[in-house]
Amino acid sequence: MAIIAVISNKGGVGKTSFALNAGYYLSKRSGGETLLMELDSSPGDFGPIFDIDSKKSLEMAVRFPENFSSYLKKVDNNLFALKGFANPFLAQNTGPESIKNLLSLIESQYGNIVIDTQTVFNRLLLDTCLIASRIFLVTDNCLESLSRVINLYEMLTLTYEIDKSRINLVVNKKRLTDYFKIWDYSKLTEVPVEGFIPYDKKFNKTLFMSNKNKLVKTKMYRQVGRIIENGFIQ
Ligand SMILES: Nc1ncnc2c1ncn2[C@@H]1O[C@H](COP(=O)(O)OP(=O)(O)OP(=O)(O)O)[C@@H](O)[C@H]1O
Ligand SMILES: [Mg+2]
Repeated sequence: MAIIAVISNKGGVGKTSFALNAGYYLSKRSGGETLLMELDSSPGDFGPIFDIDSKKSLEMAVRFPENFSSYLKKVDNNLFALKGFANPFLAQNTGPESIKNLLSLIESQYGNIVIDTQTVFNRLLLDTCLIASRIFLVTDNCLESLSRVINLYEMLTLTYEIDKSRINLVVNKKRLTDYFKIWDYSKLTEVPVEGFIPYDKKFNKTLFMSNKNKLVKTKMYRQVGRIIENGFIQ
């Protein structure tokens, strides 16, 4: 059983893409039930991507955890999605430890829980990082993004004492022509880079619902699978 959080304090770097690919990959790999949970109320993508009714959300699951399964949408064999809070104000004001209590109630039902998060750091996000067994910290391939995520890494490890071994840095959208090369990362940061994902013009988040055969052939999907194998399943 693993709780995997996909985080970044930079927008548009591929958190949701990574989380969706990881969730689908794990649901195929393990055979156990996998839950994709959205912790993004900015608003998130799960509603439109999976066509989830606005009433079925994390907000309801936190309020009525006993009815948890009724707020889920089955999106594939063994794969379920829970949409994030519709109202960011409510998400911000959710009581301390609400996500922790919910996860401890449901974790035994799922082989894996993959949590897609938002750019803004708040209490819910911190609680999620504290509980997660594995945190994928995503940046895109530029200095500005890298320096931002390193700040987040330092805050998580120094201020909140999250063990460094639980955090994997992933660089997404790497193009062959990029000025920034793989070896530059080790010169710039002490944080080991767990994996690179190439920029993939064939990848599109809507492939999850429209064409899974096409999705599994994308470089993005295959590379996320490799990162999951290397970084978290020993
Ligand atoms: N490796 C990739 N190659 C090509 N396009 C990608 C790749 N990864 C993500 N994208 C695209 O980049 C855009 C942003 O990705 P995504 O929504 O996953 O980022 P995010 O970090 O979740 O953004 P937000 O901060 O808005 O939640 C999407 O259009 C997605 O399809
Ligand atoms: Mg997102």
